[in-house]
Amino acid sequence: MNYLIETMGCQMNVCDSTMLDSYLSTYGALKVNDISNADVVIINTCSVRSQAEQKAFSYIGRVEKFKQKNPNIRIVVVGCMAELIGLKIQERFNSVDLIVGSKNIDKITSKILHLFGLNNRLKSGEISQKLEIVKYMTIVRGCNNYCSYCIVPFVRGREESLDYRVILNKCSVMVKNGTKEIVLLGQNVNSYNYDYVNFTMLVKKIVMIENLRRIRFMTNHPKDLSDELINVIATEAKVCSHVHLPIQSASDKVLKAMNRNYSYEQYLGLINKLRKSVPDINITTDIIVGFPSETEMDFECTLNAVKSIKFDGLYVFKYSPRPNTKAATMIDNVSLKDKKTRHAIVLEESNKISTEIVSKMVGSTQEVLVEKVENGVIEARTRNCRKVFIKNANVDCLGEQLDVTIVEAKVNSLFGIVT
Ligand code: SAH
Ligand code: SF4
Ligand code: F3S
Repeated sequence: MNYLIETMGCQMNVCDSTMLDSYLSTYGALKVNDISNADVVIINTCSVRSQAEQKAFSYIGRVEKFKQKNPNIRIVVVGCMAELIGLKIQERFNSVDLIVGSKNIDKITSKILHLFGLNNRLKSGEISQKLEIVKYMTIVRGCNNYCSYCIVPFVRGREESLDYRVILNKCSVMVKNGTKEIVLLGQNVNSYNYDYVNFTMLVKKIVMIENLRRIRFMTNHPKDLSDELINVIATEAKVCSHVHLPIQSASDKVLKAMNRNYSYEQYLGLINKLRKSVPDINITTDIIVGFPSETEMDFECTLNAVKSIKFDGLYVFKYSPRPNTKAATMIDNVSLKDKKTRHAIVLEESNKISTEIVSKMVGSTQEVLVEKVENGVIEARTRNCRKVFIKNANVDCLGEQLDVTIVEAKVNSLFGIVT
């Protein structure tokens, strides 16, 4: 059985898709990139903004068209949309064979096998262990924060931290299998807590694993970024100097309406602490423009924050009302035209700043870890998580730590040569 998997949405979905890959390969299924070689197409969907849903709908539509000429192909929709609006998907696309929500991700494999009349028994001798230098691992499921605009708590459920003993065990197995870098995931990863083990304590335990080179984590909620965690980023060599710290807005009025539980001043305090303790820190963020009742003045606050904080990178989104959320009961009174304008202004400013920051890196030497080698393209990352394409290393350098000199810089990527 050949399968194609299209993953949309956040790192949670990436992590789920990777898990699905390993389950399916255990049963002898083969991953393909070309739909004409696929027996089944799996679409892992996201509901966070209406645009994300539109993207999934149009993708499913295209696969449905393909199925009209190739009736044997199976279509499986999984992920957050499947969880939230599975019935609607079924009504709209009657060629979809199977719909499984995020909460039942572990049942997908057996359901797919069932679709093909295969049983659940392991195919002996076909267990392939592909070397993966970077592995993602969800350690906190769900979210309790109920930011007023956000659908995630309704899709992924209440926050739940995994047992740290299970996490440590999984990490050790990954490292034994060749993984060098582990990325810990949670919608609010730094609120991890299991049996009095908090996130900082967990990170301190994971760094002890021999042969593990790097740990990264995301996403951090500003209200839970503790001094002790900042200290661990500053002092533990294996912990990468990168923090994704969504600000969303810099207007206290809007932050309150978003139910974010911090003020701009508190956010700024964290940035200052991070930069003071970790000089090479890479700080990225998320911003929403056009939240209900965001005035020009509120937007100016956010824009000024972008200019003065000088984030290394950011994602900016146009507010999109989502069902069930508190913000959906507010009037979506910023016009689409204004949302688009504000979006474009933030993006332009941020690109200018990022370009300035990366161009200063040209000529510097960086220690990188080679994460991926594919079709002669060598992808590595600096200690503060910046992507570097290496121009001259030999192709069997996967998983190696190398010193490279940066020779060229673009907004989202650097180019280097091994020195
Ligand atoms: N748990 C993370 C990220 C959640 S979703 C956090 O708390 O930061 C990723 C980003 O999507 C959010 O940070 C937010 O900027 C954006 N987002 C979420 N809901 C949205 C909505 N309804 N409209 C526009 N952007 C939204
Ligand atoms: Fe959504 Fe807020 Fe939870 Fe992030 S912290 S997933 S934005 S509710
Ligand atoms: Fe989207 Fe679900 Fe992630 S809604 S952002 S894929 S948790």
